[in-house]
Amino acid sequence: MYDVEAIRRDFPILAREVNGKPLVYLDNGASAQKPQVVIDAVTRGYAEEYANVHRGLHYLSNLATDKYEAVRGIIARFLGAPDPEEIVYTTGTTMGINLVAYGWAMPNLEPGDEIILSVMEHHANIVPWHFLRERQGVTIKWVDVDSTGALDPQAVIDAIGPKTKLIAITHLSNVLGTVVDVKTICAAAREKGVRVLVDGSQAAVHMPVNVAEIGCDFYAITGHKLYGPSASGAIWIARERMDEMQPFMGGGDMIREVHKDEITWNDPPMKFEAGTPGIVQQIGLGVALEYMMALGLDNIAAHENRLRDYARAKLDGLNWISVQGTTPDKAAIFSFTMNGAAHAHDISTILDKKGVAVRAGHHCAGPLMDHMGVTATCRASFGLYNTEGEVDALVDALELANELFG
Ligand code: ALA
Repeated sequence: MYDVEAIRRDFPILAREVNGKPLVYLDNGASAQKPQVVIDAVTRGYAEEYANVHRGLHYLSNLATDKYEAVRGIIARFLGAPDPEEIVYTTGTTMGINLVAYGWAMPNLEPGDEIILSVMEHHANIVPWHFLRERQGVTIKWVDVDSTGALDPQAVIDAIGPKTKLIAITHLSNVLGTVVDVKTICAAAREKGVRVLVDGSQAAVHMPVNVAEIGCDFYAITGHKLYGPSASGAIWIARERMDEMQPFMGGGDMIREVHKDEITWNDPPMKFEAGTPGIVQQIGLGVALEYMMALGLDNIAAHENRLRDYARAKLDGLNWISVQGTTPDKAAIFSFTMNGAAHAHDISTILDKKGVAVRAGHHCAGPLMDHMGVTATCRASFGLYNTEGEVDALVDALELANELFG
């Protein structure tokens, strides 16, 4: 049984008050809270087990290295990846996507080549491709979502042309919660020799992911949304793509030998991991993923889908707000605007007074905001520890905002 009250006790911050009210944390899309086991792992990492990795031959360095390297296997298991050596550590999805842009796309794409993006990409999956547009004459092709916020995989497939080299697409929209059928897109792309990068920043939090089944080339995740430390993360890269990549950042660890006139690279994944990494952060991420897998990724998804249905029914009852993204195939992420003049920032300030934390703004998704014809929304994004009572608290706080602004 999924005992959400017991799970909540694993997250110390959920017991605190904000503005004199119990915290109702509905900003999981931006960053998730951390269970005590992760906090303990980070504390222990620094208090008892800290040294640099891959460098020393002393006890602590070996201990830290073993614990740090073991996380590759945990991430591979979490993502259904065949080989831990295909897991490259990053500081988050932004770094993962930049690694693909600099390491794979820049050396392999030519002027006139095309990259397909959906209109609901996060800036992290837009801006690196603008670099290629500006610097290398690569063309970006955009695919729209429909009026329900759904993305028809066939629309993405139809956009593939002879010059298309890459589809870079989210698996789950951070604004609308829309789930994208990346498997269908990948199957068609593979037949045409087009590579697919999946931004799994949100999806991996809310549903089981299996990169082997999806059939993509790159799958990026971020640790801080996965109940792990900030600045932890990873990208899974298919071995064939790794072989086509240049290093992105240069420095220690990613080399085999450095001489005045010659340099040789380390083998992947370390070829793509320059400098002292987030040692304790990655160890904490491993603990966070083990925590999620112990709860059961299917169980988490089922709990959140119940919350989604409950929240949708409640929000549908408020005829003075408009929820963006009505497609049924979505996660428990709700963006909305209040009909009338109230700005998203004002609404979120009222919610905050009631202890309800949401995000307000453009959510790093400028093209989607343009597509929806809004400048900002409020977003309530749920996680594995949220409850139906917290949906009610959100609705109560919205009622207050409506009294004040409506
Ligand atoms: N990508 C994060 C969000 O959607 C920051 O809020």
